[in-house]
Amino acid sequence: MAKLWAGRTLAETSKTADDFNSSIAVDCRMYKQDINGSLAHAEMLAATGILSREDVDAISEGLEGILKDIESGALPIDYEAEDIHMFIEAELTERIGDAGKRLHTARSRNDQVAVDVRMYLRERAEDIIGKIRSLMLAVADKAEEYKDAVAPSYTHLQRAQPIFFSHHLLAYAMMLERDMGRLADAVKRMNMSPLGACALAGTTYPTDRKMTAAALGFDGPCRNSIDAVSDRDFCVELISALSVLMMHLSRFSEEMILWCSWEFRFAELSDAFTTGSSIMPQKKNADMAELVRGKTGRVFGNLIGTLTMLKGLPLAYNKDMQEDKEAVFDAFDTADKCLDVFIPMLKGVKFKPENMQKAAGEGFINATDLADYLTKKGMPFRAAYKLTGSLVRECMEKGLVLETVPLERYKELSELFDEDVFDAIDLRACAERRTSEGGTSLKSVLSQIEYIRSIAK
Ligand code: ARG
Repeated sequence: MAKLWAGRTLAETSKTADDFNSSIAVDCRMYKQDINGSLAHAEMLAATGILSREDVDAISEGLEGILKDIESGALPIDYEAEDIHMFIEAELTERIGDAGKRLHTARSRNDQVAVDVRMYLRERAEDIIGKIRSLMLAVADKAEEYKDAVAPSYTHLQRAQPIFFSHHLLAYAMMLERDMGRLADAVKRMNMSPLGACALAGTTYPTDRKMTAAALGFDGPCRNSIDAVSDRDFCVELISALSVLMMHLSRFSEEMILWCSWEFRFAELSDAFTTGSSIMPQKKNADMAELVRGKTGRVFGNLIGTLTMLKGLPLAYNKDMQEDKEAVFDAFDTADKCLDVFIPMLKGVKFKPENMQKAAGEGFINATDLADYLTKKGMPFRAAYKLTGSLVRECMEKGLVLETVPLERYKELSELFDEDVFDAIDLRACAERRTSEGGTSLKSVLSQIEYIRSIAK
C-alpha cells in the first residue's frame, strides 16, 4: 500500500511490518473526531491566511462527504491503511486532489491523534456518567421498595448488627457518586487541546490554537507543545476511574451472587438475567453478575498495561503510545457493557425480606444493643459486654436467642434488667434507634434516597 510518508525512504515496508504497525482496526472508531478535528484545523488555516479560502472550502466539502459516506457505509474502512488519520487524508486527496495534500500544513499526526482521542474519550466518559446516574436512581428505587426490610449486616461475613436492607443498598449509591465525580474530574483536566503542537515543537506558521481549541469544545490549548503530544495521563486517569467503578460493580455483583445462593436466599434475580445449567436442572445461576465481577480484571489489566507502556518513554511521541487506545477503549467498552447489564439486572431483582428477617433473628445481632441497654442503665460497657457475651454462649447451649430468654433469667444476671429489655433488643427497634447521622434509621435512609435522587437526576 502506498505510504503518504514515502520520501525519506521508499516506504517499501514488508506486509508483516505493515500489519504490525497498523492501528486502523482500533482507531477507526475515531473517524468522526478525526474529521471534526480536521475541519476545525482547516478553518483555522483559512482564517489565518495559511491556506486559501478556496482550498479550505474544497477540504471541508471533501471531509463532510467522507463523513457522510463512512456513516452510510458507502465508504468502507480500508483495514490495510496505517491508521484512521492516514486513511481519511488519503481518501480526501483522492477526492479533491492537491487541496487535500495541503490539509496537513502546520499539523502532525502526533497532535492530530492526541486531539482525536481526547474528543472521543470525553464523549465516552459523559456517556458512562449518564449510565452511573441511571444506576444510582435504580439503587434509590430499590432502597425505597425495601426501605424497612430488617436484615443482618456483616463484618468478616459474620452477622453483625440489625440494619434496614435499604441502608446496605444505599452504600453502593454513595460509591457510585464518587465514581461519577472521578470521571467528571478526569474529563475536566483532560479538556485542553493539543492541536497545533504539531510534531512536538510548535510551528513557524502563524496558527491560532485558541481558535481550534474553542471550535472543538476545549477549555483552551495545552500550554506546552511537548507535553501536548506526550501526555497520556488522561488515559491513565480515565482507566483508573473506570477501575474503581468496576471494583464497586464487582463487589455489588459478589453480594448479588451471595444473596442469590441457597445459603442466603436474600434475593432472586429475574429469569431474564440468569442462566441454567446444562446438567443440573435445579440451577439458576447469576452468570451476569459473575461476568461483571470477572470482567473487572480486564479493566485493571488495561490500567496496569497503560501505566507500564508509558513508564519508560522519553519525550515526546513514541510509537508505543499507539497502544493506549486499545487499552482505554476496552476499559470503556467493558464498563459500558457491564453497566448495561447491571442496571436492568438490579431493577428486576426481587429481594426476600422474610429470609433477611429470619437470618437477622438467628445471629445474636442484637447483642450490642443488649450491652448498650445495660450501659445506659449505668453498667460500665466492658462489664456489659462480658455479661452479654456469656449470655450468648448460654443461649447457644440452650437453643435460645436473646429475645426468648425469660425475664427471670435476665433479672438473675443483673438487677438492671426490666421488662423494657425486650423492646431494647427488638430487631426492628434496634435498627430504628440508630438515628446517628448516616446511620441505618429509617429517617436516615429516606434522606439518603432523597440525596441520591437529587444528585443523579
Ligand atoms: N496511529 C498513531 C497512534 O495511534 C498515530 C500517530 C502516529 N504518529 C507518528 N509519529 N507515527 O499513535
